[in-house]
Amino acid sequence: MRKLALIALLSAASFILLGADDRNCGQQMDSFIDDLMSKMTIEEKAGQITLVTYDRRFMTGEAQSAGVASKIAEGKIGGVFNVMTIEDKIDIQKLAVEKSRLGIPLIFGLDVVHGYRTIWPIPLALSCSWDLDLIERTACAAADEASSEGVDWTFSPMVDIVRDPRWGRVAESSGEDPYLGSRIAEAMVCGYQGESLDDPQSMMACVKHFALYGAGEGGRDYDMVDMSLNRMYQEYLPPYKAAVDAGAGSVMSSFNDVNGVPATANKWLLTDVLRAEWGFDGFTVSDYTSVGELTEHGLGTLAEVSARALKAGLDMDMVSEGVLKNLDYCLEKGLLTEADIDVACRRILEAKYKLGLFENPYLRLGGQPVDREKYRSLALEAARKSIVLLKNDHNVLPLEKDAKVALIGPLSDTRWELMGTWAGAAAMADEGVSIKSGISRYTSSLIHTAGAPITDNPGLARMIGVNIERSGDPDSLISEAVSAARESDVVIAVLGENAKMSGESSSMTWIGLQPAQRRLLEALVATGKDVVLVLLNGRPMTLEWENEHCAAIVDAWAPGLQGGNAVADVLFGEYNPSGRLTMTFPRNVGQIPIYYSMKSTGRPHIPFRKYRTGYIDCPQDPLYPFGYGLSYSQVDYSDMKAEYDPVSRSVKASVKVTNTSARAVEETVQLYIGDATASVTRPEKELKGFRKVKLAPGESLVVDFSVPVSELGFWTPELEYIVETGEFMVGIGPDSERILSSSVVYEDVQALEAIPVGLFLCTPY
Ligand code: BGC
Repeated sequence: MRKLALIALLSAASFILLGADDRNCGQQMDSFIDDLMSKMTIEEKAGQITLVTYDRRFMTGEAQSAGVASKIAEGKIGGVFNVMTIEDKIDIQKLAVEKSRLGIPLIFGLDVVHGYRTIWPIPLALSCSWDLDLIERTACAAADEASSEGVDWTFSPMVDIVRDPRWGRVAESSGEDPYLGSRIAEAMVCGYQGESLDDPQSMMACVKHFALYGAGEGGRDYDMVDMSLNRMYQEYLPPYKAAVDAGAGSVMSSFNDVNGVPATANKWLLTDVLRAEWGFDGFTVSDYTSVGELTEHGLGTLAEVSARALKAGLDMDMVSEGVLKNLDYCLEKGLLTEADIDVACRRILEAKYKLGLFENPYLRLGGQPVDREKYRSLALEAARKSIVLLKNDHNVLPLEKDAKVALIGPLSDTRWELMGTWAGAAAMADEGVSIKSGISRYTSSLIHTAGAPITDNPGLARMIGVNIERSGDPDSLISEAVSAARESDVVIAVLGENAKMSGESSSMTWIGLQPAQRRLLEALVATGKDVVLVLLNGRPMTLEWENEHCAAIVDAWAPGLQGGNAVADVLFGEYNPSGRLTMTFPRNVGQIPIYYSMKSTGRPHIPFRKYRTGYIDCPQDPLYPFGYGLSYSQVDYSDMKAEYDPVSRSVKASVKVTNTSARAVEETVQLYIGDATASVTRPEKELKGFRKVKLAPGESLVVDFSVPVSELGFWTPELEYIVETGEFMVGIGPDSERILSSSVVYEDVQALEAIPVGLFLCTPY
C-alpha cells in the first residue's frame, strides 16, 4: 500500500519572518503613504497606476504615448520607460518633482534583459552556462550600469518555460526546464535587487510574463494557452514562484489568454495565485498595451477592460492609459471605486518608497562611476561559458594557432548581430568584437568572404532588415567562398540567425539554416575540407544535415559584446567549451514540441515498430538532448550511488567523475529523478540538481548530491502537492540521455508523519 504525504506550501512564510527593523520600516512606509494618499486626488491616484513610454525607437507595439510632459506635470503619470539618456531622465523627473502638485517622483523602467551598455549573451545562451553565480554577477553588473544612468526598474527576468523553438522569444528565456529555470530566476532577481532596493546600484526586478507566455499555440507570439492546472503547477509556474520567493518587487502580466481569460485580466492568476497563495506583496504591471488589447480579445470597451484588469489585480497599466482616460466613466458606471484604485496606487507608491525615490528622486541620476573594464572581462567570461560544442569529429577542434583559415559567412564580420535581441541600450556595441577580429588574434593566415546573404527570402529579408540586392550575386559569392576554402586548411562558416530573427514577434515556421546559407554550406563541404560551423542563433535550430556533414559545430548563440573573442578562444583551444543545452534541439519542426521530461505513453516508443508512439518517418529522439554539450576533454562517470537518508529526509547520491584527458575541464554533472511507481503518470525523469566541477588533467572527484524529499513530489489532479512513497529512478550524467542510474526506495513512515500538511489554497476561476 502506498502512503501519501502532503507538503506544506511555504510561500507566504517571508511575511512571518520579518524582523523588528523591517516591521518598523514597514510602519514608517505605511504612515508615509497614508499621509501622501490622503492628499491625493483620485486623478492623481489614477496617474500613479499609469506607465507611459518615451522613445519611439524602442516601441514594441503599435501605440505610442502622447502628451507625456504635460501629463507628468499634472501628476497623471506614475512611471516612464524607454527614456534612453540620463539628461532626459533628469528633465522628466524634474517635471514630476517640481511641477506636479505633490511632487511624487516617477519610476524609470527599461528592458535591461541581458546587460545594459555591456551586453552579455542572450538569456538562453547564458542559461547554457548552468552557472548561477555567473548569472547573478551579470544581473548585478547590469543593475550597476543601468542604475548609474537612472534606471530604477528592469523588465526582467523573463522566466517563461519554453518548449517550442519556433517562438522567437525562446531567446529571452532560460529554456525548457522548471528546476533550472527556477534557480536562474532566483539568481537574476538577487543580482538585480542586491541587498536592498534603496541601494543606488540596484534596481527592481520585474518577473515576466505571468503567466505561461512560453506555451502559446504553434510557437506563434501572443497566442492562446489552454493548459491543465496540474501541468501549470508542475511545469510552468515554478520559475515565477521562485522569482517571487526570491523577493522580486514586481510582476508583469502576459499578453496571452490562459484557459479563456487573458492573463492581464485574470483574477485567478493575478490575485488568487500570485498574492493569496504565493504571498507576493509587490506590484503588477501589464505588458505593452495588453490592457487595451483585451478589447481585441473581445472582452469589452477600453473602460470596461481596464476596470476589469484592475479589479483582477493588475496595478499598473503599460501604455494603454485605460483607467486614466476613462476615470469618470468607470466611476459613474460603478465599474470601479476609489478604493479599487487606492489598492493599486498604494502598491506603486510602496515600490517607489522601497527604491528610495521619495528620499531622493535623483538617487540613480547622480552618474555614479562604473568600472566598464571589469564588465568587459565579465562579458568575455559569460560568452565563453555560454558556447556549446555540439559536434567535434576527429578532434578537428581546437585549431592550431596560425592555421590557414577560410572564414566564411554573412555573420562572420559583424559586431552588431552578436548582441542579439533586446540590446537597445548597447551604445557599446561599437566596442564589440566580431568573430573575424577575434580569430585574427590567433592567425594571420585568414581569408575572409561573406559567401551568401543571410536569407534570399524577400519577405523575411524585409522583416529582419536585410537588403538582399546589396549582398551581391549569389553564384559569385559562393564561388569566391569555394576558392577561399580550397586555399585553406580549414573552413570556419559563421551562419545562422541575425539579431532580428529571434526575439519578440519573430516566430518562424522554418528553423533550419536559410536556404541561401545552406547552399553555401553544401558547396563548402563539397570541397572536402573540414568545415567548422559556428552558429549564431536565438533558438534551437534543425541541423540534421549540418550534423552529418560538418566536422564540428559550435553553437555561439548571440554571444554579446565579447562574442568574437569568446568564439575564437573556443576555436583555438584557449578556452575548453563547457556550455550545456537548456533546450532540446529537434531533428525537424515536425517533432515539436519535444523536450526531455516527456512522459512515457502506454506504448512507449521503440524505433521502427508499429503501434508504438512516435513517428514512422523520423527517429524519436532529438538531434541534441537537453543538457548536452561537448568539451575538448573526456570525462568518465563511474561508481554511481544513491540511497534515501531518513535522517536528513533526502536522497543522497554521488558519482565519480574522472578527467581522462590532458586538458583541464569544467564539467556540469546533472542529476535526474524519475518516479517509477506513482499514482499518476509522471515524466521519465526530471532535473533535480546539478553541479559544475573543475577537473585538472587526470583528476577524479566524487560529486555528491542531496535532494530533499519534497523534490520527489508532484501536484495531483486535485492540486495537492504530495510525495508518495515508492521507487524512484535516480540518474546522474553529463546530459539528460547519458545517465548512470540506480533505484531508490522511499518508505519513511516517520518522515511522513513529520512533514507538515499543506493544500492548494484557492479555487481556480
Ligand atoms: C514585451 C515585454 C517588454 C515590454 C516593454 C513588450 O512588448 O513583451 O517583454 O518588457 O514590451 O518593452
